Amino acid sequence: MRNILIKNAEIITMNKQEEIIQGDIRIKDGIIIEIGSGLTPRGDEKIIDATNRTVIPGFIQTHIHLCQTLFRGKGDDLELMDWLRNRIWPLEAAHDEESIYYSAMLGIGELITSGTTTIVDMETVHHTDYAFQAIAQSGIRALSGKVMMDQKNTDIPQALQEDTLSSLQESVDLLEKWNGYGEGRIQYAFSPRFVISCTEPLLTEVRDLSARYGVKVHTHASENLGEIEIVKAMTGMRNVVYLDHLGLANDRLILAHCVWLDEEEHRILHDRGVHVSHCPGSNLKLASGVADIPGMLHEHISLSLGADGAPCNNNLDMFNEMRLAALIQKPLHGPTTMDARSVFRMATIGGARAVGMEDLIGSIEVGKKADLAILNLYNFHTFPSYDVDPISRIVYSATRADVETTIVDGKILMERGIHQTVDKEI
Ligand code: GUN
Ligand code: FE
Repeated sequence: MRNILIKNAEIITMNKQEEIIQGDIRIKDGIIIEIGSGLTPRGDEKIIDATNRTVIPGFIQTHIHLCQTLFRGKGDDLELMDWLRNRIWPLEAAHDEESIYYSAMLGIGELITSGTTTIVDMETVHHTDYAFQAIAQSGIRALSGKVMMDQKNTDIPQALQEDTLSSLQESVDLLEKWNGYGEGRIQYAFSPRFVISCTEPLLTEVRDLSARYGVKVHTHASENLGEIEIVKAMTGMRNVVYLDHLGLANDRLILAHCVWLDEEEHRILHDRGVHVSHCPGSNLKLASGVADIPGMLHEHISLSLGADGAPCNNNLDMFNEMRLAALIQKPLHGPTTMDARSVFRMATIGGARAVGMEDLIGSIEVGKKADLAILNLYNFHTFPSYDVDPISRIVYSATRADVETTIVDGKILMERGIHQTVDKEI
């Protein structure tokens, strides 16, 4: 059933005027076809009574590692390079087909039940096909790809080191199998892990392939000072400068973290239209630093949010990321610099822009895909409540427990805590 009438809701549209309205939403074949008040039900529609409920665009998380969901709690209290070398890489090397599948499915369940409808995901070197199967079956919208690690580095376990050609070939094979699946619900994204794990021939080939297929490149950059030192020693350049030097800095590039950038790197991100995925929970937990998001906002750099992997912050929940994104800047820059609306924009329409789907998702407007979450914010006690901005309420006090329904492409994937698998015929 992809025909739904949502009645009597408070609707946070995130349209250009960022209107918040009271009314109904009609969905037909997964597309929002009407927004208004007093819409009358048609025979083929499921009716959702959203009286005293708030409908929001589903959250778009632009940096996730589904393969790490099962690593939660492993390597707590380490910084990035120690954490990768000693815990994450050996664990990824130990993954098999079944464990990747369950790691992905469990992560997706957590995402859907907390209102996330689109993810940009990075898998590990092997078995990525099984993560795609979980994505396909779950109904979530995703850009995903096999991680690429062709640099011969003694720190990286043998099992994760791959040849340049086979890394490229396996990526293209997965792209050809999955890109465009489910009316475009799944897209491939090339995923060179980070500069440290990739050779220059691989990165330049990824640049050309992403242009040829018109798909995104998703990688980490400038997360941690130790990482930057290694990149400098390898390339003689700062991270973003090197990516630009190779021709990778363009609007197909999604860069996770970007904690430590200089002015030249900011300029490159802006001028080339690169998309930054801010991961505040991960940046705190791995002691990476506090990214200059207010500065990037001021410079109109494309910004969105991601939880990173489960062990980076112990939570795949966008409410957590939004709250941290706002709170960590306040002691540094004052109370209004990262206001609730700026953060909510990053979590919704900002993510849509990063994945190149600004015309299709990220807001509630006629003609867009029905990717929505319905929240019950009634456990927020205040008096009088009508003068509290509901966006502020969501950013500062909502939790995953307030999400009652999650819809992707007009399909109900979760209703009151039950995550439903929608697509069994893989
Ligand atoms: N940099 C390279 N790989 C990773 C990873 O798996 N997680 C994080 N947070 N940073 C990385
Ligand atoms: Fe990451």
